[in-house]
Amino acid sequence: MPFSEFSDQQQIIDYVTQHIDYFTDDSTLQVTELSDGNLNYVYRISDAGGNSLILKQTPPYIRVIGDGWPLTQDRARIEYNSLKRTAERCPQRVPKMYHYDAEHCVILMQDIGDHDNLRELMIQRVRLPDLAAQLADYLAVTKFYGSGMGLASGEHKQLVRESQNPDLCQIHEEVFFLDPFCDHERNDVNPALRDEAEAFWQNNDLKREVAILKRRYMSDTEALLHGDLHTGSVFANQNSCKVIDMEFAFCGPAGFDTGVLLANFLLNYCGQNNLPGDADERAGYQDWLLTTISELWQRFSQRFSNLMQQHCVDPSLSDAGYQQWYLQQLWQDTLGYAGVEISRRTVGIAHVADIASIESETARADSERLALKIAESLILRRSEIQSPAQLADTVRQLNS
Ligand SMILES: Nc1ncnc2c1ncn2[C@@H]1O[C@H](COP(=O)(O)OP(=O)(O)OP(=O)(O)O)[C@@H](O)[C@H]1O
Ligand SMILES: [Mg+2]
Repeated sequence: MPFSEFSDQQQIIDYVTQHIDYFTDDSTLQVTELSDGNLNYVYRISDAGGNSLILKQTPPYIRVIGDGWPLTQDRARIEYNSLKRTAERCPQRVPKMYHYDAEHCVILMQDIGDHDNLRELMIQRVRLPDLAAQLADYLAVTKFYGSGMGLASGEHKQLVRESQNPDLCQIHEEVFFLDPFCDHERNDVNPALRDEAEAFWQNNDLKREVAILKRRYMSDTEALLHGDLHTGSVFANQNSCKVIDMEFAFCGPAGFDTGVLLANFLLNYCGQNNLPGDADERAGYQDWLLTTISELWQRFSQRFSNLMQQHCVDPSLSDAGYQQWYLQQLWQDTLGYAGVEISRRTVGIAHVADIASIESETARADSERLALKIAESLILRRSEIQSPAQLADTVRQLNS
């Protein structure tokens, strides 16, 4: 049957009531569209009693463009499988899933409206005391149990096969690893940053290192990744955080997820130089961001190392020396992929509100200049910056 979008709110309500028994009083149901990303339709269905759920539907194209840019609907299956897998190991870190419909490319899930978009929270300089611990645990558990260290060899290979996501990976191969490092027509460059962007595109050492990182992204099937773990994919409040939007999931290098997340903390750091508000408060928040990165990495590596020591399915990978080497390598990959994410969010097609919301072109360029300097250092000096403390020193020096 050909795919069809819901043409009105009643069709959405009918779909929900016919497929799950969630609401007690169907007569008061209302639909609100939440779609604020680019790719899919997202709706909240709620009743008068305060109960609600979320319907996400994946069209065979990019929602904000339409038929002119087709995109595989297999991304709904990828997102569903990844949510399911995460729920098995970290149920508190994802919305509960109520229903998946492969034919209509629909997922019905828990409404996590009591959480806010982490990017928005960071722009408002909200401090979340448990965020580092919660994300570190999510990252360590999902990367470990999505790899050949936590899964039997056959299971891991099966996971690699069923997580093939060539179309969405190709988007990242282009907008993440290609465009930001050349004068590509898709790029969106602040005119006040033009000179720095031109110099960035001339840096051949940078291009070589990005190619090394890209080859790993394209060929290393180490662990099941979220694949797009920026702060807009994390929803949080003072007690909890949850991760959504897993359609870019595939088996790739574990440092890609940790790197993208860390990059988005650093992009907020750069934005804080020019976002509105008191200067001391903004500087204080920048310190909080660097402390949170450090705590996240310490907790992540501790948890990962415990998992390696106690639950590694392959005895040859339990060797203590190897485990130490592995975590150091993962840190270097994290820095490298963080540098690439910062680059693409600064001179590529998709910017982040932490910087893009700064109204003045020159003030925005000031934050973007710092972002490019940090990106370049992380990519080129990823083997020299050996710890979060050294990373914090590097960032502070570049910002001085
Ligand atoms: N389970 C949920 N509970 C509450 N709100 C949600 C939930 N899932 C999604 N949303 C809302 O819908 C928005 C879009 O969701 P999501 O990021 O999954 O869509 P997308 O179209 O895949 O986005 P993108 O184009 O960035 O990939 C989120 O920013 C959030 O506001
Ligand atoms: Mg998405």
